[in-house]
Amino acid sequence: MSIPKTGMSKQEILDTLEQYKKDDVKWRSGKVFAYTFSAGEDVDDLIKEAYMKYLSENALDPTSFPSLARLEREVVRFVIDLLRGDDNAVGNFTSGGTESIMLAVKTARDKAAADKPHIKNPEMVFPRTAHSAFHKAAQYFGIKPVMSEFNSDTFMADVDSMRNAINENTILLAASAPSYAQGVVDPIREIGKLALEKGLLFHVDGCMGGIMLSFLRQMEGFDIPDFDFSVPGVTSISADMHKFGYAAKGASVISYRNKDIRKHQIFATTASTSYAMFNATMLSSKSGGPMAGAWAVIHYLGMDGYKRIIGEVMAAVKKIKDGINSIEGFRILGEPKMSIFSFASDSVNVFQLADYMAKRGWYLQPQFSTEKTPHNLHITLMYDHVRNVDELLKDLRECVEELKAAKMKIDINTVREQVKNMLESFGDDAVKQLSAMAGMNDSGSAPEELALISCILDALPRNVSKELLIEFVNNLFI
Ligand SMILES: Cc1ncc(COP(=O)(O)O)c(C=O)c1O
Repeated sequence: MSIPKTGMSKQEILDTLEQYKKDDVKWRSGKVFAYTFSAGEDVDDLIKEAYMKYLSENALDPTSFPSLARLEREVVRFVIDLLRGDDNAVGNFTSGGTESIMLAVKTARDKAAADKPHIKNPEMVFPRTAHSAFHKAAQYFGIKPVMSEFNSDTFMADVDSMRNAINENTILLAASAPSYAQGVVDPIREIGKLALEKGLLFHVDGCMGGIMLSFLRQMEGFDIPDFDFSVPGVTSISADMHKFGYAAKGASVISYRNKDIRKHQIFATTASTSYAMFNATMLSSKSGGPMAGAWAVIHYLGMDGYKRIIGEVMAAVKKIKDGINSIEGFRILGEPKMSIFSFASDSVNVFQLADYMAKRGWYLQPQFSTEKTPHNLHITLMYDHVRNVDELLKDLRECVEELKAAKMKIDINTVREQVKNMLESFGDDAVKQLSAMAGMNDSGSAPEELALISCILDALPRNVSKELLIEFVNNLFI
């Protein structure tokens, strides 16, 4: 669509924007188990109003907008208190989990440059189950990512493997509380000990769990291992308000044990002929909306409101996990501690099952296999899903039966074999051929049924699937 010569009416513009959404996942239905977090329409409405109040205020300069500095301090204090940080703990409001993780990594790099200048090629060690944001940070900041192993039954980080991966260039350890894929909390206490023994910084990725696990820890009937600043050795934690804090997107907190560490996060310069620039986080100009939204939801729900919501979510989680485990050949992977988990099946191809469920309006996220663990589907269960638990289990059981009876079954092992042959015979042209086989066309759009694409990505060596994704995204945008 090109820019119109004369402006459109407000109504036309708003209608057009609404119409653009028609092919989006229908997250309001409470059937989409990823991407959006809603604590109900009353909370969403409040967040929108609060966000709009601060939409135009600019956090570029907290001295010009002390209201934003205050909102940031108060949201960060809420999170640090949950994470049992003491009076020395500090933090900042960021745009999301990835920014928080990237800042923790940049901080580790710059602290190492100051304290350990002999390290010329810094490395960081994290289990393979850690979020992709660590790889992104490694790439952006020139740090070698060293992946350690995980236990294939529990999906928890293997601490001996982390120990073996540490060398004289290591500057940072990282682990998850919990990991996105399986919702499993790594052995944070043991890793903290290792960090102290080796004199290393240790980041805990609590983007998903920092807030929810902290509440669960305070509630009856949940066995939550320590993962926060109460654990000696933990030096930074990321916790996203825009996930289980139920705030609007653009809201995360990166916190540090003390200012001596955090100072390496901050950028300041007077080198330019323009204004003195100082940024605690990555963005410079940024809207005050996300902070105001986060502040509003915290004060609207209060501790009791969060606990009530979390109690209902966890009751739903138990029902779904029991339901899935009771389907023959199905199992929940690892021991998830909160409301994110995954399941695999020996009786059907779960990637194809996701397509069957999609036809009934459900979105279940495909996750890849490793040499030791099966391909699986992910569920992030939040408040808006609670009302749909019975329907989910009913549809899941019916789709499994439909798939078992279907003529067109995609066998993941056959795809694996075909992919291997194509890679051998097409050489450099393999990525293009595989995109065509998967039905990804030149405009960058994906076909309605995604099982084949998922099977192909699952079968490809990781360096090739990465190229395929880059090709896809390069075609998606002009
Ligand atoms: C464990 C974990 N860490 C980090 C991130 C990145 O967060 P964001 O998408 O807000 O950048 C995610 C996102 O799902 C996550 O699950």
